[in-house]
Amino acid sequence: MGAWAAPDRVESSHQEGLRTEAAEGSARPGRGGLCERLGGHEEDRHKDERRERDLGRHVAPVDAGVVGSEGDLGAGGGGVDVGPGELGHATAGGRDDGASQATYAGRAFDQPIPKFELPAEGLSAGSVYQLVRDELNLDGNPVLNLASFVTSWMEREADDLARETMPKNLIDQDEYPQTEQIHERVVTMLGRLFNAPPELSPVGTATVGSSEAIMLALLAHKRSWQRRREAAGLSTERPNLVMGADTHTCWEKFARYFEVEPRIAPMQPDAFTLSADDVAARVDEHTIAVGGLLGTTFTGQMDDLAGINTLLADLERDRGWRVPLHIDAASGGFVVPFVKPELEWDFRLSQVRSINVSNHKYGLVYPGMGTVVFRDKSDLPEELVFHINYLGGDMPNYSLNFSRPSSSVVLQYFNFLRLGCSGYERIMANVMENAQELERRLADSGRFVGLGDPSTFPIVVVRAADPDALDLFAVSERLRERGWIVPAHSLPADAEHITSLRMVVKENFSRDMVETFSSDLDSAVENVLSAEGANQASRGRARQPIC
Ligand SMILES: Cc1ncc(COP(=O)(O)O)c(C=O)c1O
Repeated sequence: MGAWAAPDRVESSHQEGLRTEAAEGSARPGRGGLCERLGGHEEDRHKDERRERDLGRHVAPVDAGVVGSEGDLGAGGGGVDVGPGELGHATAGGRDDGASQATYAGRAFDQPIPKFELPAEGLSAGSVYQLVRDELNLDGNPVLNLASFVTSWMEREADDLARETMPKNLIDQDEYPQTEQIHERVVTMLGRLFNAPPELSPVGTATVGSSEAIMLALLAHKRSWQRRREAAGLSTERPNLVMGADTHTCWEKFARYFEVEPRIAPMQPDAFTLSADDVAARVDEHTIAVGGLLGTTFTGQMDDLAGINTLLADLERDRGWRVPLHIDAASGGFVVPFVKPELEWDFRLSQVRSINVSNHKYGLVYPGMGTVVFRDKSDLPEELVFHINYLGGDMPNYSLNFSRPSSSVVLQYFNFLRLGCSGYERIMANVMENAQELERRLADSGRFVGLGDPSTFPIVVVRAADPDALDLFAVSERLRERGWIVPAHSLPADAEHITSLRMVVKENFSRDMVETFSSDLDSAVENVLSAEGANQASRGRARQPIC
């Protein structure tokens, strides 16, 4: 029994507890403490009661019960459960007045909602749901967000599974052994998809996203490099990491957080990927790994993975340097296997020792899930794997985080079973066709020049055909007014003078949407080119992050 309940009124539920709280007001123990100092909510209550009295209504908290069904919730302003003492007005005769129980008749809706400190008292779940939902309408619409790679739609059954598996902590392998089995199946299936040699034992783990996956892979390579050097009696100072300026921020983040020198090959004015020559100019015996991209963040292209692989194989043979190639397949790892299965970018290349993928991108699950897969268990130094026993049993753990819901992993398994290889093939074919159609339309307009590789990746990246005449930041701003989220951004060094628009084509961006978007883009361009648009252009310079 909580300290708030009077002895003769033992409360059996949260709602009952609230009713007691409202009826007894400041007589409750605990008043004068932390909750009273917070928010001045009691004052609000008195104001509320005075207003109700003025309106001729007697305020008597009642258990208002539930109004509406789950289906109503989607309608915005539909019925939600109503909290006692808050929305539960009754008439003087004690009879419920149904109309006054409507959500927006409640106290929560004409009072300020605390933004910076914990409210002294709570509100009903229904009211809070509605309040938060309404506020979140100020966000962009994920379906119209062409800036982001992450999945914004799943089937209803997947939504059900997500909700049901949210309470299971993925880390509790002993308590949820079946979830752990599913986790292992997902990693194994990915190892196979990425062509791990059958004679080896690929290992890996689900992560929160590709950023964690990349850091885990690079940490393992750093530790393996240290071990090899120690065994040979060589210095382990000054480890470095070779990569292109086309890599995602998480690569530099790793270098800074884990004290590795980043050796970054700049882009060229007309080439935005990493070449074997770029690597050759930077690699040495202190290189812990080389990063190669299957789908860059900026232009959605592929580094010269085959060429880099050959270079690293030659260095191992000729100089004895064992430099692993890590493939960042965050966006390409679920596209290329289905669109161009013959393209060798994965464990078919001898020096590829680890791969990451963002399952929440083209794996088609909600954020956040990534996976890291090592070519063989020998690529993951055993001392980096923690063995935890305080949750019961022996639980090997390799992660930067600890607790997290198991739903992402379960959703990935759902998709594997639901779609199979042919389902992914079909979806990726649609996505590619729609991306190519979009690219065609943009090129045909004469206003844009393509920068990406829409034959391999469903990412359309363009620059203005006449950059002096067309301000892409202003175009981005105009599109935003219509609801579309399309970032304009400059490319990394040494191509920073190029401003581009990037559009990530996802599963739910249908041909119909391509048509609507193209027409809106035409209007946005015309608007910017017009005198009025030109005058307003300077307003559009706010930079949007890309991910
Ligand atoms: C190539 C690449 N690597 C890594 C990341 C980081 O991925 P995540 O958001 O899954 O951590 C991204 C994000 O877009 C990316 O494009």
